Amino acid sequence: MYSQSLAWGRRYLMCPPEHFGVLYEINAWMRAEVRVDLDRARAQWQALVATMRAAGAEVEVLEPVEGLPDLVFTANAGIVNGHQYVPSRFRHPQRQGEVAHDVAWFEAAGYTVSWLPEGMVHEGAGDALPFGGALVSGYRTRSDAASHAALSRLTGAPVRSVELVDERLYHLDLTFCPLGERRAIVAPHAWDRYGAKVMEALVPEPLVLDDEQALSFCANSVVVGTTVVMPACPVTVGRRLEAWGFDPVVCEVSEFAKAGGACRCLTLALDVDVRMCGSEVGDGPRWDG
Ligand code: ARG
Repeated sequence: MYSQSLAWGRRYLMCPPEHFGVLYEINAWMRAEVRVDLDRARAQWQALVATMRAAGAEVEVLEPVEGLPDLVFTANAGIVNGHQYVPSRFRHPQRQGEVAHDVAWFEAAGYTVSWLPEGMVHEGAGDALPFGGALVSGYRTRSDAASHAALSRLTGAPVRSVELVDERLYHLDLTFCPLGERRAIVAPHAWDRYGAKVMEALVPEPLVLDDEQALSFCANSVVVGTTVVMPACPVTVGRRLEAWGFDPVVCEVSEFAKAGGACRCLTLALDVDVRMCGSEVGDGPRWDG
């Protein structure tokens, strides 16, 4: 018998938006002339934390740092696999200064730090989510395909590679949201044909988003047990989630959308063990390192 809910998603790392802003443009959504309302951002972030806690999640806090406006997007801090932490290697210099702070937190928390080789780019859980005993990882816009074999070597988990072809959906976590052992929210039009095939073989019961739904960032949701904390919930998506026994809860994160992020991006799950996430690895292409 498979489990309807995820084996992970009860402990998260988050960073308050004290120094958040849109100070540069590194994705299709960011406009440096756009002003962030910091009070609103604080209130939205607090409401997200409260909603996650009410759903049963524990939230750990990463100290905000001046001059690192995107540090709030802790999904990009790296990949957690049991007691192992693989720091990100950011594509853009604007975010590279975050790494030292992320690593300091994980070292203090007792994690073993495993580094990806220098010269390759990977943006952490924003581009890598566990499903079916594997790590599904996106590449092209923000992570390199070459990092996938290295990730597989470091974690010991098979990595399923998916190319992200829509620059508006530039991280995997804008196109893919695991819900349980067999179910996930997917946006296949954001993937290359080969990646879509890989995912089709991996996810037995997909909740498929159309273009407009995906652009609402509804795949960028935090799943805590049966609660799905979403930045937006298109009607048909909500109906399907409810039919599957989930409770969709919308948390407005409009200030963070100005930077191209939403609920999931603001969180990093700390209780992930990639190989424990789902029993079977289906057949099909994979990087075994
Ligand atoms: N402004 C941030 C960037 O472009 C947003 C990161 C969103 N994170 C995510 N996991 N999708 O890097």
